Amino acid sequence: MLSVDEAILSRRSVRAFKPDEVSQETVADILEVAKRSPSGTNTQPWRVHVFTGAAKDRLIDTVQKVFWEDANEHSHDRLHYMETWREPYLARRRKVGWDLYGLAGIKKGEWEKTREFHSRNFRFFGAPVGILFSVDNDMGWMSWLDYGMFIQSVCIAARGRGLHTCAQAAWGTYHALLKDYLRLPDKQMIHCGMSLGFEDTQAAVNALETVREPLDEFVTFHQD
Ligand SMILES: Cc1cc2nc3c(=O)[nH]c(=O)nc-3n(C[C@H](O)[C@H](O)[C@H](O)COP(=O)(O)O)c2cc1C
Repeated sequence: MLSVDEAILSRRSVRAFKPDEVSQETVADILEVAKRSPSGTNTQPWRVHVFTGAAKDRLIDTVQKVFWEDANEHSHDRLHYMETWREPYLARRRKVGWDLYGLAGIKKGEWEKTREFHSRNFRFFGAPVGILFSVDNDMGWMSWLDYGMFIQSVCIAARGRGLHTCAQAAWGTYHALLKDYLRLPDKQMIHCGMSLGFEDTQAAVNALETVREPLDEFVTFHQD
């Protein structure tokens, strides 16, 4: 088991996985750990849908079909980041995008290759385990904050067991289709997915190194 710092520091979003299976017991173990995440007033807003084997294949087939038949992006349920991108967020977003596409051998303007790369989201990047997360769609921003903690806990508990993950907002694009597909209760919606498995260390895209701002850019120590 890795130390907490080791698990946090070695977590990266992995976008190519080995086919090696991850047992249901291991996934359940990770979720047992993650469920200890805090949530305001202990509301525990998370609902988790785990896909492996034939069930994962069926889900992938369904979404891939829609993805390739319908060139239009399906819409998100709500604002994901910001209405109009501005600095410094825009530069960070562009950098990670171009660094990633660069590793994937995709140049600016190569839309078909870009779309093919995007479609890998909806194959869970070849991971043996795909996870979809749902939430009651009328829950407020504090509950979404709780959800983020839960998802990070899943990532870290997975990392502690030698596994890697990629959180995927992309799956939220298909919230309407997925709601029907999973026959979710009225209020529930899928907002995010996750790939989980063993990293394919040979894959160029997994060499992506993302940067973070230094502390003095985002921390104010108030004293005296
Ligand atoms: C909530 C959330 C949603 C994300 N959605 C996607 C996604 O749909 N597809 C993808 O390839 N990466 C996705 N990412 C990964 C981010 O791009 C990544 O976390 C960020 O660039 C920092 O890189 P790192 O995770 O390797 O440290 C997502 C991450 C988070 C936390």
